[in-house]
Amino acid sequence: MFSYHNNQLNWHGRDVAPLLQRMAKELAEKHHYTGPFWVYQEALLSERLRLLEEGLPGCKFYFSVKSQSNLSLLSLIAAHERFGADVVSGGELYRALKAGFTPQKIVFAGVGKSEAEIAVGLDLGIRSFHVESIAELRDIARIAAEKGVTGAVSFRLNPDVEVDTHRHITTGKEENKFGLSEADFAQALQIVKASPSLKLVGLQAHIGSQIFDVAPYLKTAEYLKQKFTIASDALGAKPEYVSLGGGFGVDYQQLEGNAVNFDFAALAKAVHGLFANETEMHFEPGRFISAPLGILASQVRHLKERTGKTIAIIDAAMNDLIRPMLYEAYHPILPVTRRSEIKKYDIVGPVCESTDTFAHGREMSALAEKDWLAIGFAGAYGSVMSSTFNSRPLIPELLLTEKGDIRIIRKPQTLEQLLANELM
Ligand code: LLP
Repeated sequence: MFSYHNNQLNWHGRDVAPLLQRMAKELAEKHHYTGPFWVYQEALLSERLRLLEEGLPGCKFYFSVKSQSNLSLLSLIAAHERFGADVVSGGELYRALKAGFTPQKIVFAGVGKSEAEIAVGLDLGIRSFHVESIAELRDIARIAAEKGVTGAVSFRLNPDVEVDTHRHITTGKEENKFGLSEADFAQALQIVKASPSLKLVGLQAHIGSQIFDVAPYLKTAEYLKQKFTIASDALGAKPEYVSLGGGFGVDYQQLEGNAVNFDFAALAKAVHGLFANETEMHFEPGRFISAPLGILASQVRHLKERTGKTIAIIDAAMNDLIRPMLYEAYHPILPVTRRSEIKKYDIVGPVCESTDTFAHGREMSALAEKDWLAIGFAGAYGSVMSSTFNSRPLIPELLLTEKGDIRIIRKPQTLEQLLANELM
């Protein structure tokens, strides 16, 4: 993924220094913009999709739009036959449609869908609502009946499986806010049975994110198999699909290799063994696809000497990429041109908050002002989680196409746009 040749950073076959120079020039010329920006590689996107298509044969994928939602990238994913979109809000639904996903290839998840969101999904005839509570199921039944349509629903079940990941991103435990519990499941089946405006099309579970071990998926698949049998018997028809959610981990510390840290073969074998040809198998990967395909390009502004370390103030900040501050997440911070001297750095942003720190005491090649840095594995939960804190506008996104062309796929937000909705 990342390597150095003659001290020059190479990212998936591309020399980064000339690439960033071309991009910075384009942004300056077209938008008078200087500052940090996101870079994505189309070649990497194609590779990630292919790894899944080959790793999990016969399965379908609903890309988790929350991990990366740039229209241009979504439209490239939408062109893949086996890929749909997993959305969690009316906003993501709107994006997915704009990007070219047909309603039949969109599933709508989320614990707190509004009546307006449900109505839009029903009008469009989306593939399914992933239902997270009895109250939501009743809402869908009522709104669908009022409209005289049938609401396609799937139950998001809570298998109460323990996974080894950060406490902020586990989702499959009983105490969690997500999904239907055991007791809810029985009641939900009764409601579907009694409601002509509902059709159960799927069973789903998502146990968390950043998972490297196949075992919790296998446990979840077995749990879903039991529920599949119960639901089929109760309703006299088999659900059309079973979804095991997303969560495939990416090792942010591993710079070499192709960033595949998951035993897809074992998973494929197990799910095909369990469900054979009884139903469609779905997954909702986000990070596995989007993390490796993006970097955040940023320049060193100032250096400050402190006892035992240097503070490097860079032009990107927590409002651009919040993962290190919110989850203590590790991202590689790679000087685009490496020097032989090694020093210890705190890498911080310009936002007025002590938490605006990308790395504490990180040993890396010596830095100088204006050096370019590539913050790696930033394509997932990066730009989508940005804010305009400190009145810092949203930064641009650029795509390196397979042909080697540069495309600006999101323009820099202007200050006028930042204030456009405020009234005085
Ligand atoms: N399906 C459902 C129902 C989900 O809740 C999620 C993510 C996914 C699929 C995709 O999971 P992935 O394949 O990306 O692991 N902001 C956090 C991650 C939160 C994940 C939330 N759910 C982070 O930056 O690490």
